Amino acid sequence: MAKIIDGKLISKQIKDELKEKVAALRAEGKEISLAVIQVGNDGASSVYVGNKKKACEYIGIKSLAYELPEETTEAELLELIGNLNNRADVNGILVQLPLPGHIDEDKVIKAIDPLKDVDGFHPQSVGALSIGQKGFVSCTPAGIIELIKRSGIDISGKECVVVGRSNIVGKPMAMLLLRENGTVTVCHSRTADLKAVTKRADILVVAIGKPKFITGEYVKDGAVVIDVGIHRMGVSESGKAILCGDVDYDDVEPIASAITPVPGGVGPMTIAMLMNNCVESVELQK
Ligand code: GUN
Repeated sequence: MAKIIDGKLISKQIKDELKEKVAALRAEGKEISLAVIQVGNDGASSVYVGNKKKACEYIGIKSLAYELPEETTEAELLELIGNLNNRADVNGILVQLPLPGHIDEDKVIKAIDPLKDVDGFHPQSVGALSIGQKGFVSCTPAGIIELIKRSGIDISGKECVVVGRSNIVGKPMAMLLLRENGTVTVCHSRTADLKAVTKRADILVVAIGKPKFITGEYVKDGAVVIDVGIHRMGVSESGKAILCGDVDYDDVEPIASAITPVPGGVGPMTIAMLMNNCVESVELQK
């Protein structure tokens, strides 16, 4: 029986710790604010943006919402970012992705002042992480490190395997595990014998975007399994979405020593770490 890593509980603990820090900063006269920009009205993005606003309210961070129409031009978006970069009363800037096809995402990410890049997507933030310098870290991988540490699992010296090499999860995840002194391997769609590699993992992080792809055959006895995937598999009789991850939970749970569920594992940590980055922004901007 694996220990279930409760991301909902751990994210709540983090948010409560941040709430106290924010209250202490406010007592010193420092208010934190996050600008959240959404272009168009993609349904999933609206849900994420709504959750980010709610988390800000809970913690005591002021959120400035910019809901821009789908037709917004790249130049208009860049101009808004430029204005927010210059505003001393704005600590963090987040542009919800994906952006409409006519806007160059890379250009937009690069336009954000690295000192306000609370998503940690700016090339300077990514570079700083890779050479161990101060900067914002991408929220999902940072949340995974918190999940592992707060579950009492030591990363140092462990065989860590990351499946997936995205800029937002896989690559920064590898860097963070390395920073924690793990021995890290990154696998991807061209990995010759994926099973042979994942079977070596003491800590296995899966972010490939394929429902229930990782079955028990891929997992070593006693491994810690972190599932970053989230897929909607249908709707239950009571009208609730049926969700699953990249890991076949029922198949892997009996083999693993610890595992994150979907939902309620990695998901809630992303927003908690975004809030953490907003609080850290005050220190970075000093
Ligand atoms: N779209 C999906 N995940 C994210 C995220 O973490 N940040 C932003 N800005 N957009 C996203």
